[in-house]
Amino acid sequence: MPSNTELITVLDVDTREEALRIIEASEGCDWYKIGSQLFTRCGPDIVREVLGMGRKVMLDLKFYDIPNTVAHGASAAAALNVGLFTVHASGGINMIAAARKAVEGTDTRILAVTILTSFTDEQLRDEVGLYETAAQAVPRLARQAIEAGAHGIVCSPWEIQLVRDAVGPEPLVVTPGIRPAWSSKDDQARIMTPKDAAKAGASMIVVGRPILKHENPAEAVRLIKEELAQ
Ligand code: C5P
Repeated sequence: MPSNTELITVLDVDTREEALRIIEASEGCDWYKIGSQLFTRCGPDIVREVLGMGRKVMLDLKFYDIPNTVAHGASAAAALNVGLFTVHASGGINMIAAARKAVEGTDTRILAVTILTSFTDEQLRDEVGLYETAAQAVPRLARQAIEAGAHGIVCSPWEIQLVRDAVGPEPLVVTPGIRPAWSSKDDQARIMTPKDAAKAGASMIVVGRPILKHENPAEAVRLIKEELAQ
């Protein structure tokens, strides 16, 4: 059965012009991830503009605050009509439930980020005070976030299986750290190919440099989508 794993291209740039250039160059991609870099530079206008081009947006601002504040942020994201936005799973059950209530009746979906993959287990213990390894915390936080009302989870490709086992087949599982066999690894250490991520159960993959640095980004998009469909 062909997978229906979708592709999200990242718009990690400083200006509207660069963002629009990427969108035009990556013809064939339906989804774009706008994070704190572009959003803080260009504000909600860039989101409206991308949506106005007929593309879908994952707003990756990783909300983490008291439930009331996150609920207002979630309402704002839904009013912008983004398809997806992110919160931290560690914000807790009440925070995620408040976000869910705020987007009820809209087409906007909530993704929860479990443990940032930049953390080592030692840092989690010594700096965050979390006496669990990432491998223990990720499935626990994923299950809790979904039970609280998140529609999906963001995790590293090597955690897809762990997360799927924790949350079952329904929730979205979205993963960065993807590298097709033909592309450079850049600074990503624990990578996976699009095909393997799809096989492991990813609903969507987030890809940056393999598309952005390709001499023909539309060709990179085509190759990745072809691989996902295998
Ligand atoms: O260029 P690349 O494909 O590595 O970009 C991946 C995107 O996913 C970037 O926006 C990066 O910040 C994000 N990301 C990641 N690895 C994580 C978490 C987020 O690469 N563990």
